[in-house]
Amino acid sequence: METIRTIAWMKEKAKEARLEQRVIGFVPTMGALHAGHMALVERAKKECSPVYASIFLNPKQFGPREDLSKYPRPIEADTAKLEAAKIDGLFLPDAAEMYPPGFSTYVQVEGLSERLEGKSRPGHFRGVTTVVLKLLEIVQPHFAYFGRKDAQQARMVQRMVRDLNVDTEIVLCPIVREADGLAMSSRNVYLHAEERKAATVLSRALRAAAREMGSGVRDALQLQQAMHKVLAGEPRARVDYAEIVDAEMFEPLVRVGRRSYAVVAVFIGKTRLIDNLLIEAKGEELRTEL
Ligand code: PAJ
Repeated sequence: METIRTIAWMKEKAKEARLEQRVIGFVPTMGALHAGHMALVERAKKECSPVYASIFLNPKQFGPREDLSKYPRPIEADTAKLEAAKIDGLFLPDAAEMYPPGFSTYVQVEGLSERLEGKSRPGHFRGVTTVVLKLLEIVQPHFAYFGRKDAQQARMVQRMVRDLNVDTEIVLCPIVREADGLAMSSRNVYLHAEERKAATVLSRALRAAAREMGSGVRDALQLQQAMHKVLAGEPRARVDYAEIVDAEMFEPLVRVGRRSYAVVAVFIGKTRLIDNLLIEAKGEELRTEL
C-alpha cells in the first residue's frame, strides 16, 4: 500500500488509473478506523481496482465547541488495518495543502443541509460537502463508498454529485454494529463503562419503532412516541431529536408509506451519538433494517 501525502501525487495516480480504464474505488474517512469503515473498504475491494482510502480530519466540519482537538488519531493502527486489507493507496492530505491561506470556496446543499444534523451542528454539512467535493476532484473515483450510519450525509453527497455533475457514483453501505446493537463510531471511545451501556438506548429506541411498524402502526407521531418512551427510560440520555423522515429530503413524515428513516441523535454524557433505521415500503408491507 502506497501512502500518498500530496494532492499532486494523488491526482497523478488517479489520472494514470483512469487512462488505463481501471475502475477507481474510494473510501473517505477521518480515521480511527473500525469495522464500519473496513466494511466500506471490503465492498470497494470487491467492486473496484485500484482502491484508495483517505484519512483527513477535516477541520471545516467541526464546530468551535466540538471535539476536533480530542478526536482519536491512531494513525499507525489505521495504516496497519488498511495495509492488511490490501488497498492500493492511503491518501493522507495535509490540512495546509487542503486549505491554503485565502481558501474561500464552499459547497452547500440547500435545504437538506439545514435539517436535523445540519440544524444541530451549524456549518457542519457545508464542511462535509466542501471536503468531499475536493476529495472526489482529487481521487477521481468511479465509485465512492459511504455508510448508512450517516444517512443524511450520504444523501447530501449524492445530491451534490448529481447537482454538480461529478463523475462518481455514491454507494450506500449498511450500518455495522457492536454485538449489543450500538452502531460503531470513532466517537464510541469517549464513552466510559456506564455510558457505554447506556448508549445501547439508541438502537433499542429504533427497534421499538420497528416493532410498532411490525404490528401495523404507520402514524409517524405514534412511532416517535415509541422511540421517546425508550429514550426517556435511560437517565444518561439527553435527546437531541428522534424523528421519522423521508429518505430523499429528510423532511418529517405524518405517515410512513415510502422509503424513509427513523433517525435519532442523543447525548450520552458529553458524547453525541446518531443512529437510524431504514424503512422500505414493499406494497402494503414495510421492511425495516437496523
Ligand atoms: P467518518 O466518521 O470517519 O466516516 C467515514 C465513513 O464511514 C462514512 O461514510 C461513515 O458513514 C462510515 N461509517 C462510520 N461508522 C459506520 C458504521 N458503524 N457502519 C457503516 N459505516 C460507517 O463521515 C466522515 O468520516 C466524514 O464526514 C467524511 C465523509 C470522511 C468527510 O470528512
